[in-house]
Amino acid sequence: MDDNRLKKMEEDAIREISSAKTGEELESVRIKYMGRKGLFTDFMRSMKEIPEDKRAATGAMANKLKSKLSSLFDSKSRALRPSQAVSSASIDVTMPGSRDIRLGHKHPITKTIDRINEIFIGLGFRVAEGPEIETEYYNFEALNIPLEHPSRDVFDTFYIKGSTLLRSQTSTVQIRVMEKEKPPLQVIAPGRVFRPDAVDASHSFMFHQVEGFMVDKNIRFTDLKGTLTLFARQMFGEKAEIRFRPHFFPFTEPSAEVDVSCIMCHGKGCRVCSYKGWLEILGAGMINPKVFEAVGYNPEIWTGYAFGMGVERIAMLKYGINDIRLFFENDLRFLTQF
Ligand code: DAH
Repeated sequence: MDDNRLKKMEEDAIREISSAKTGEELESVRIKYMGRKGLFTDFMRSMKEIPEDKRAATGAMANKLKSKLSSLFDSKSRALRPSQAVSSASIDVTMPGSRDIRLGHKHPITKTIDRINEIFIGLGFRVAEGPEIETEYYNFEALNIPLEHPSRDVFDTFYIKGSTLLRSQTSTVQIRVMEKEKPPLQVIAPGRVFRPDAVDASHSFMFHQVEGFMVDKNIRFTDLKGTLTLFARQMFGEKAEIRFRPHFFPFTEPSAEVDVSCIMCHGKGCRVCSYKGWLEILGAGMINPKVFEAVGYNPEIWTGYAFGMGVERIAMLKYGINDIRLFFENDLRFLTQF
């Protein structure tokens, strides 16, 4: 009779387990049989009423049924959680993270300065730097720029206090290096310069220049020409040609503005070069004896050349950029292209 009770309980439980459709339904079936007041628990409590000679056998059957039911509950409960099982399996913790760490890279202006430095270092130059806050002496006087020169006007230079100012050119570094060192010298000086210009597509109140100069005995204009030709070919390609146009700068004599053959049309004439075939890239000349006198060099012994170029202008030509403001607006859509 107890055996029959167990049999019936087994059949009922198996049927109810298999027809449970949700976790909750299954859980109520489990409570119904295995809970503290459940049918199976009840049965176990009533074991003491079973005649002693049958008790051991019934107990063994009951234990078997208990483990059978508990494994049925387990497997059914796993089966009722298929979606959870799939979603946890779909996360592969051994995969590399999907959000990669973006490496930064150099700003196009820094890249251009690096490239200019690299070319001149290859030609025997070394890099020097000077302060951005300067005095009138280094920015003008020592460079033979007289008091009445228009660039000394408050409209063309940011004055700070008294004779301190934000340097308007990197030519200042010529003076700073020559004051401290004796020739021979072969130096380039990259850096920031400042001018109170209204900002537009080709002007900025802050931009970058690279100054270069060489001082030794018997330095001639042809040395300048050869050096700048090598520079232009390495910067803009083997086909690049340069030409010199007479110009005036107080710190060089003679002086010239230097053009490179248009990097787009190679001299034929196009929109980039305004149909001239040439693009102005720098100013240059032979260092004025007055500059040598200012730093205590004897101009009868030493000669030298100097040049100065705008980095933004070169970067704009090299990368085909038509607005200088793009360099300084920090727009990643622009910056990540380099
Ligand atoms: N300092 C000049 C400027 O800012 C550029 C320059 C011209 C530098 C001629 C030179 C030079 O050394 O010889 O416009």
